[in-house]
Amino acid sequence: MPQSLPSVIISGTGAYLPRRVVTNDDMAKIVDTSDEWIRTRSGIAQRRYAGPDESTSFMATAAAEQALQTAGAQACEIDLLIVATMTPDMPFPSTACLVQSRLGLGAITAFDIQAACSGYIYALNTASNLLRSGAYKKALIIGAEKMSSILDFEDRSTCVLFGDGASAAVLEISEAQGTGILSSITGSDGSNPELLYQPAGGCIQPASAESVLARQHFIKMNGKEIFKQAVRVMGQVSTDILDRHGYSSDQVDLLIPHQANMRIIDSLAKRMGLPMERFHNNLDRFGNTSAASIGIALDEARRAGRMGPGDLILLVAFGAGLTWGATLIKWQ
Ligand SMILES: CC(C)(COP(=O)(O)OP(=O)(O)OC[C@H]1O[C@@H](n2cnc3c(N)ncnc32)[C@H](O)[C@@H]1OP(=O)(O)O)[C@@H](O)C(=O)NCCC(=O)NCCS
Repeated sequence: MPQSLPSVIISGTGAYLPRRVVTNDDMAKIVDTSDEWIRTRSGIAQRRYAGPDESTSFMATAAAEQALQTAGAQACEIDLLIVATMTPDMPFPSTACLVQSRLGLGAITAFDIQAACSGYIYALNTASNLLRSGAYKKALIIGAEKMSSILDFEDRSTCVLFGDGASAAVLEISEAQGTGILSSITGSDGSNPELLYQPAGGCIQPASAESVLARQHFIKMNGKEIFKQAVRVMGQVSTDILDRHGYSSDQVDLLIPHQANMRIIDSLAKRMGLPMERFHNNLDRFGNTSAASIGIALDEARRAGRMGPGDLILLVAFGAGLTWGATLIKWQ
């Protein structure tokens, strides 16, 4: 990154988790599974499910209000809003527009990003570069998902893995040089979309009685292949971003990976030669909350005081698409 570009910092974070806790034993009442299987294969012990009154835009708004509060920012200061989600309130208008209204933001730029579980990194990357360009002054990014709305509760291999939630961050320009978001790398490979997808509801297979009967509006996943790809791309993009800035992995103070599977995170830790104490995980409590997951963990880590001035923080994600991304931050 050229040094002349202004620094962009994360000045506030927030998160919202629905009230309803669903344990593995609760899941075992719905599908043929067990607490032991889910824990050993994924590391998940429980997840949250949103109720009928907790839509994606509702959760996004609650997380955003917290982020604004911790940033000490007023809603009227925000001039860019990006919501990353694969479970929008409706196909259109965008969830970002609904959040714009719920928060009472002005007539600002608001749009959704669909990069599945990499959405938070995609949103961070887009917003930070738009701020650096001088086009906007203060941005709000949100990752929010109601995954329970697209889970097939007859498919035990997918429904046990995901949960609902939202996270948000306020991004702004800082005078301090060499601090904040150093840069991000994002990437994609759409050559095999069926690895992880929702077949129906788009123009190829619009909603019909047949598509509903065939359970085509739910997540379908090739778990084994996704697992392999996740280990490969998360390791690679982490190495790439550290190399770009001349850091080695042992200089990372805190690594926040997308919370999909503890075995994937263990493999990443091994590959990077980092002890698990340098990671912040909450998969056991929330499952995979897709675009919300990194932001929820980041908010928790910040509140727990795990990030101090000058700390090197690495965020890394992968998701359907395939998509992937990493963001390197020098905490302010
Ligand atoms: C899904 C995942 C946990 C499955 O773990 P795995 O070790 O690959 O398990 P397998 O697919 O080999 O399945 C083993 C057996 O468990 C069964 N099984 C699947 N889900 C089960 C469940 N919830 N409870 C009990 N048994 C289950 C399978 O049917 C299979 O049985 P079979 O051998 O009789 O056919 C794992 O592949 C994974 O996490 N992949 C990545 C998924 C992911 O992270 N997606 C999000 C990307 S952002």
